[in-house]
Amino acid sequence: MKILITGANGMLAKAVINEFKDCELICTDVSEVTNNVENINTTSVNNFQAVSKLDITNLEDVEAFVSKTKPEYIINCAAYTAVDKAEDEEELARKVNSIGPKNLSIVASKQDATLIHISTDYVFGGAKSIDEAYVEDDEKNPTTVYGITKLEGEKEITKNCNKYYIFRTAWLFGDGKNFVRTMLKLGEEKEEVNVVSDQHGSPTYTVDLAKVIHDAIEKQIPYGIYHATNEGFTTWYEFTRKIFEMENIKCKVNPVTSEEFPSKAKRPKNSKLSKEKLLNEGIHIPTYEDALKRYLQNS
Ligand SMILES: NC(=O)c1ccc[n+]([C@@H]2O[C@H](COP(=O)([O-])OP(=O)(O)OC[C@H]3O[C@@H](n4cnc5c(N)ncnc54)[C@H](OP(=O)(O)O)[C@@H]3O)[C@@H](O)[C@H]2O)c1
Repeated sequence: MKILITGANGMLAKAVINEFKDCELICTDVSEVTNNVENINTTSVNNFQAVSKLDITNLEDVEAFVSKTKPEYIINCAAYTAVDKAEDEEELARKVNSIGPKNLSIVASKQDATLIHISTDYVFGGAKSIDEAYVEDDEKNPTTVYGITKLEGEKEITKNCNKYYIFRTAWLFGDGKNFVRTMLKLGEEKEEVNVVSDQHGSPTYTVDLAKVIHDAIEKQIPYGIYHATNEGFTTWYEFTRKIFEMENIKCKVNPVTSEEFPSKAKRPKNSKLSKEKLLNEGIHIPTYEDALKRYLQNS
């Protein structure tokens, strides 16, 4: 199986590369914008060392790269993920989160490749009753530039190609800068921390999401949009308490409201995603507590 992984230096991509390490992988990322197709290095790798430059916002480059390397699957891990910064950088966020997936979907369709794309709970506004989890077809009402541009990316994919999986995930932790790592550091440094207790969702281990992607390909589940987070729901406050409990960190955790902890981008209060559709395809994903335990053991 030949797979192109974009955004290969990112947090999720590291887990995806590891999950698919026995496949023929072509890993790409952007570090500077290149318009020179001749300069693209098309190294195919069977490990995760070599990353070639490919800016997904440049259609010509994507077209040239994909027609040359001919992957059967494209796993798009590239994204503009700085949620607060996106409020001031709408144009760049739109280029990466909307134009990028558009380019990949056009090219995937031309080359008859399957596109696997990652989206987010932020496509929903979060206003749904906290007792209910969002299902895939629920009304979208993103309130942040990040959420709006990610939703645009989803729409481009569903318009431009037929062979796609879009996995909406949330609250990722893994090999990179993430909430768990931040809290572990704060917990060691401080005597108490304030953590938001009115945003509900599911922390998700990149390793488990990568496994879902693998299972979906292996089982050839129907193309479409799926919610894919770890099982179980919590709040950032309760999750922090769980992290400290597992690591025996004595730091006190104080619950605060979103209003008491303001951020530039307004986070959804309800980020709960129902996994029923994925479960109906026979794909199970572990609980976030189980995932956290494995993450802490491995890092
Ligand atoms: N992190 C979360 O909590 C979370 C939650 C829900 C959904 N998601 C989604 O999950 C996916 C993976 O997220 P992540 O946290 O692993 O992201 P990440 O660590 O920020 O990685 C994204 C990668 O994309 C690269 N990139 C940016 N612009 C690019 C371009 N024009 N062409 C090619 N590559 C480009 C970035 O490079 P630079 O670093 O050099 O810019 C980075 O290596 C994304 O689709 C994200 O929206 C994430």
